[in-house]
Amino acid sequence: MKIIPCIIGLGYVGLPITLNLAKRFLTYGFDTNKERIENLKNKIDVNRECKSKKFNNIKKIIFTNKIKDIKKCNFFILCLPTPIHKNKKPDLINLNDAIKIISKILKKNDIIFIESTVFPGVTEHYKNYLEKKTNLINNKDFFIGYSPERINPGDKKYILKNITKVVAIETKNKKVLKKIYEIYNKVSKKLIRSKDIKAAETAKVIENVQRDLNIALMNEILIICKKLKINFNEVIRLAKSKWNFINFKPGLVGGHCLPVDPYYLSTIAKKNNFKTEVTLAGRKINDGMLNYIIKELNYFLNKKNKSLKNSKIMIVGLTYKAGVADMRNSLNFKIFKKIKKYNNKIYGCDPFVTKNIKITYGIHNNVKKNINYDAVLFLSYHEIFKKIFKNIASTNNRNKILDPFNYYS
Ligand SMILES: NC(=O)c1ccc[n+]([C@@H]2O[C@H](COP(=O)([O-])OP(=O)(O)OC[C@H]3O[C@@H](n4cnc5c(N)ncnc54)[C@H](O)[C@@H]3O)[C@@H](O)[C@H]2O)c1
Repeated sequence: MKIIPCIIGLGYVGLPITLNLAKRFLTYGFDTNKERIENLKNKIDVNRECKSKKFNNIKKIIFTNKIKDIKKCNFFILCLPTPIHKNKKPDLINLNDAIKIISKILKKNDIIFIESTVFPGVTEHYKNYLEKKTNLINNKDFFIGYSPERINPGDKKYILKNITKVVAIETKNKKVLKKIYEIYNKVSKKLIRSKDIKAAETAKVIENVQRDLNIALMNEILIICKKLKINFNEVIRLAKSKWNFINFKPGLVGGHCLPVDPYYLSTIAKKNNFKTEVTLAGRKINDGMLNYIIKELNYFLNKKNKSLKNSKIMIVGLTYKAGVADMRNSLNFKIFKKIKKYNNKIYGCDPFVTKNIKITYGIHNNVKKNINYDAVLFLSYHEIFKKIFKNIASTNNRNKILDPFNYYS
C-alpha cells in the first residue's frame, strides 16, 4: 500500500520534515494553528527556517487544520511542543491532544512516530491509550515508535539530511520496517535503529541535560574567574590544550529544549522514587545568568558614574540563539524587557528577530558606528554581531562595550 505521510505540528521540527518528505510523497501537514496553516499555504514560514524556495520542487503537499483531511493518511509523525508548566512539571497537553486526534482516525497498519522530546515511558503510555481507545493492538494492527529530533535551527553545518537520526520501534515486521526506512531515509541519510523505545526517549533527553550542565559549569567558571580577576580566555586556552578537556562555552541558555528537558528527566526519576542531584544542577546557574548579567551591566555603568535607570543602553542579540528567530525562553530578551520596565532608553539590535517584535519593542537590524550609548551589551555570538563589535571598537568607543561572555574580546 502507498505510504501517505502526515506530520502533526508544523513548527521548527515538523515543517522541515514535511518539506523533505513532500519531495517524494504526497504529504499532509496538519497544525491546529489556523494562521500557521494559512501562512504555509502561501509558502511563508514566520520562524524563518524554511525559505519560500524550499516549498518548490515538491511532489504535492497539503497543509490543513481539518481532521477529515488526514483520515486517509497512514504514517503519522508527531512534532508537538513539550514545554513545562509554571511548577516545572512536564506539560504534555499538546501531545495528548494530538494522540486524541490519532485515536479517532487510527486504522489497521497505520504507523505512528513521536518526535517530540519526552521522558522515558511516554510512548508506551500513548500506545496503551490508543489500544484502549481503538481496540487495535500495537505491533499487530498498528505500530508506534519514537524518533527523537536533533535538528538545530540556524545551524548551517548540521542540517536535517546529515544529522544521524535515531529510529526506535519494537516491531520485527519486515513490511513495516521497509516503510519506516522509506520515510526516514528521506529525512536523514544516517539512521540508527533501536528496538528499545525507552532508551531512545532517554537518549534524547540526556543529550540536552548534558549540554545544559556543561554550559552551566562554564558559566560558573566564568563567574569565578571574574571574582578572582583571572583572565577567563587565558584559562580556557591553557585548559583546552589537554586532550580530554571539553571546550564548552559559557553563555545564556534559552529555547524550547535545554531549559525544559532536565525537568522531564528529573520528574520521571522522582516518580520512581529517585531524587536527582546533578540533572537539575545546571538550571539554577543558567537561569541565574539573567541577574548576573544585569548586575554586571549595573557595575559597568556605575564605574562611569551612570545608573541602569538613566543610561542609554543597546543590547545586541535578543533571540535565544543568534541566527534564529526563536524567542522562546530567551534570557537575552528577558534581560531586555526587565531593564525596559524602568528604563525607556534601552534599545535592541538583532536582525533575526521577527518583524512584529521588532516593531513592538523598537529593535533594530544594526548599530550605527558612531554610537551615543552609555553601554552596548553583547549577549550572543554571531558573525554579524562580530562586525558590529569591530565597527564600534574601531571608533574609540571600545570602552562603551560590555562583552560579558568574552565572545569578541
Ligand atoms: N525547536 C528545536 O530546535 C527542537 C530541536 C529538537 C527537538 N525539539 C522538540 O521537538 C518538539 C517540537 O518542537 P518545535 O520547536 O517544533 O515546536 P513549535 O512550537 O515550533 O511547533 C509546534 C507546532 O505544533 C502545533 N500544535 C500544537 N498543538 C497541536 C495539536 N494538538 N495538533 C496539531 N498541531 C499542534 C503548533 O501550532 C506549532 O505550530 C518539542 O518536543 C521539542 O522539544 C525541538
